[in-house]
Amino acid sequence: MGPNAVAIIPGAGLVRRSADTDYPFRQDSDFWYLTGFNHPDATAVFSTTPGRPPFTLFVQPRDRTAETWTGIRPGVEGAQTEFGADAADDCSRLIESIPELLTDAHRLFHSFGRDPKLDVGIQAVQEDRRLHSRRGGAPIDETVDPRATLHEMRLFKTEPELALMREAASITCEAHQAAAREAAPNRNEYEIEALLDYVFRRRGGAGAAYGSIVAGGPNAAILHYITNDQPLRQGDLLLIDAGCEYEGYASDVTRTYPVGGRFEGPTRAVYQAVLDAQQAALDAVRPGATLPEIHDAALRKLVEGMVALELLDGRMDDLIEQQAYTPYYMHSTSHWLGLDVHDVGRYAVDGKPRPLEAGMVFTIEPGLYIAKDDASAPEALRGIGVRIEDDIAITQDGYENLTEAIPKTVEAVENWMA
Ligand code: GLY
Ligand code: MN
Ligand code: MN
Repeated sequence: MGPNAVAIIPGAGLVRRSADTDYPFRQDSDFWYLTGFNHPDATAVFSTTPGRPPFTLFVQPRDRTAETWTGIRPGVEGAQTEFGADAADDCSRLIESIPELLTDAHRLFHSFGRDPKLDVGIQAVQEDRRLHSRRGGAPIDETVDPRATLHEMRLFKTEPELALMREAASITCEAHQAAAREAAPNRNEYEIEALLDYVFRRRGGAGAAYGSIVAGGPNAAILHYITNDQPLRQGDLLLIDAGCEYEGYASDVTRTYPVGGRFEGPTRAVYQAVLDAQQAALDAVRPGATLPEIHDAALRKLVEGMVALELLDGRMDDLIEQQAYTPYYMHSTSHWLGLDVHDVGRYAVDGKPRPLEAGMVFTIEPGLYIAKDDASAPEALRGIGVRIEDDIAITQDGYENLTEAIPKTVEAVENWMA
């Protein structure tokens, strides 16, 4: 932060679901990363101005009635004894405390545009300092968005963070196994979703890290299908994109299972084409490689597969150049993964894709989707959708596939389901 700097980092509040019920609380990822404090309406203030506590937490105070209804709060005292704050105060005093918090500050870390009350409080202090500068109050010279630094930190996972991501992956593996075993005709997509949720929670996860996609047959071609309310049919594929959130960290895994346990008819060849593309992408992973290189490796293999399946016809380079594949593959192959499923961190530096470095975690998730009403596709292939997604951590000399334990070859998937 440098000397004489103050950072103000607000946490999440409760969000109204309907009438007088709220959505389950989920802490803001930046706030969670910095504090490990998992209660609503808190704000962290970090300070390097002389004589100020380095770490102050503003929190909901103890309140017997409120705690009887909604649960125990650490309160002002707990913020210090349990969460390591040097000072703590009632969150209702945050705005009135801003002038004092900013005393002697020359640089302020704050993300404007997220919390209007806080923005107004800070701007009022700035304006006041400017007007009274003759009496010695200097306005803050520099306001910096803390996310630039913070998100770069979050991009590089430390060993304890990787341990949490491995646990999220391990729970996800068990959940996929429970789901795969039940992927039988006449089961409904929501039954499969319920099994995933059950395992996520049973093993101490917070639940799904994002809306689970449980897409039977042609629903697999709807990329973010989360309705999950249709019956499964023998011989169809079932695309499950679901990962557990554990201690705030997401896993993000897709497998595509044959309903009934065996890949039938053309589903096998489509599945194999995606698996080959995913392997080509994995073969391109190393420190120093870039995500666009990995995407290109997957794409070339996938387009080869599309030609073999007679979805496309023409010269490889032309098909890629003309993006002829977009009706069947319309998303990118990778995204950062961490506290958020589509995690923070810059994808490019100085206008160029950044080289991968140890500690970065991302997905590899090629897919092939043939809409059921796509008249230009061979009829037998219509309504087939496949995606295969793993979570990859870059190491000093290669990579670790965090989700390797979840089977994906045709044979391994069929054995697992049996
Ligand atoms: N589940 C969202 C994604 O794979 O990016
Ligand atoms: Mn996914
Ligand atoms: Mn993903």
